[in-house]
Amino acid sequence: MLPVYEAIDIIKVIPETVGHTQPWVVLANTPYGLKSFVAKLYTAHQVNNNNSVTNEVISNVLASQFDLKVPPGALIDIPESLQFKKPVELQIQYGKADPRLKFATEMLPNVNAAVPSLSKSFYSRRISLDTLYAFDNMIRNADRGQQKTNLLLGSKGAFLIDHEYTLHQNRITGVDWDNFEIDPVFTQHHLMYPYLKKSIKPKKQHYFDEFLEYLRTLNTNALSVYFAQLSSEGFNTKSININSWLSQVKQNSTTFVNSLKSSLE
Ligand SMILES: Nc1ncnc2c1ncn2[C@@H]1O[C@H](COP(=O)(O)OP(=O)(O)O)[C@@H](O)[C@H]1O
Ligand SMILES: [Mg+2]
Repeated sequence: MLPVYEAIDIIKVIPETVGHTQPWVVLANTPYGLKSFVAKLYTAHQVNNNNSVTNEVISNVLASQFDLKVPPGALIDIPESLQFKKPVELQIQYGKADPRLKFATEMLPNVNAAVPSLSKSFYSRRISLDTLYAFDNMIRNADRGQQKTNLLLGSKGAFLIDHEYTLHQNRITGVDWDNFEIDPVFTQHHLMYPYLKKSIKPKKQHYFDEFLEYLRTLNTNALSVYFAQLSSEGFNTKSININSWLSQVKQNSTTFVNSLKSSLE
């Protein structure tokens, strides 16, 4: 289960130039002391039509199962009283936000957004490039691109954030595995595509070995507790479709990985 906290203060709003949803940095009292969290104020429309909160939670949890780093997730209640003395723009944003718990991640100190101009070794010291590429294809994430990278770089690691647009219903249902092809929206624009594509053949042969290993051992039952928690908080998780998609990727892992490899030839 994700921890649930109550915000005790609103520290700042992350400007639209950095994140289009303008998340809030809030302070919460946790068993480990006061911590800052970046909380996403999705509208009810985004939550209901896009499944944004569930997608954020499930993708955050899944990333760890592929040994990809994420800031720890949480669900945060932002009490109405906190916004009363804040600027009017904040109050308007609060009013438009879905009233249920907000998805949040612990605010990471000393990180910078990834940019495409960095060297391959700079990335490979922090993250497995091919596993990230495969993972984003698995969660149907077109949002780890060369412009909006949604990858935060620290001195030791690279951390995945922002999964609201993953696992879109149209992308995970009715998939024809006999004629499976990966949509270029998940390949050519991906942050890691140029690095992976440029590599030499002997290296490419071993791409996705690690991903396949994690996929084989992926225990989708481990997600049940998160789906149950979200349901009990009033979210319609569409868990059947998500579980079914993940099982299909597992069952068709060779087809899936072969098409990833073809995308990089
Ligand atoms: N856990 C975090 N730690 C530090 N900064 C973060 C964290 N989460 C988000 N941010 C910052 O906030 C920005 C917007 O967050 P993001 O989840 O990408 O929202 P959006 O959906 O609005 O793009 C990020 O680009 C990053 O700069
Ligand atoms: Mg973002």
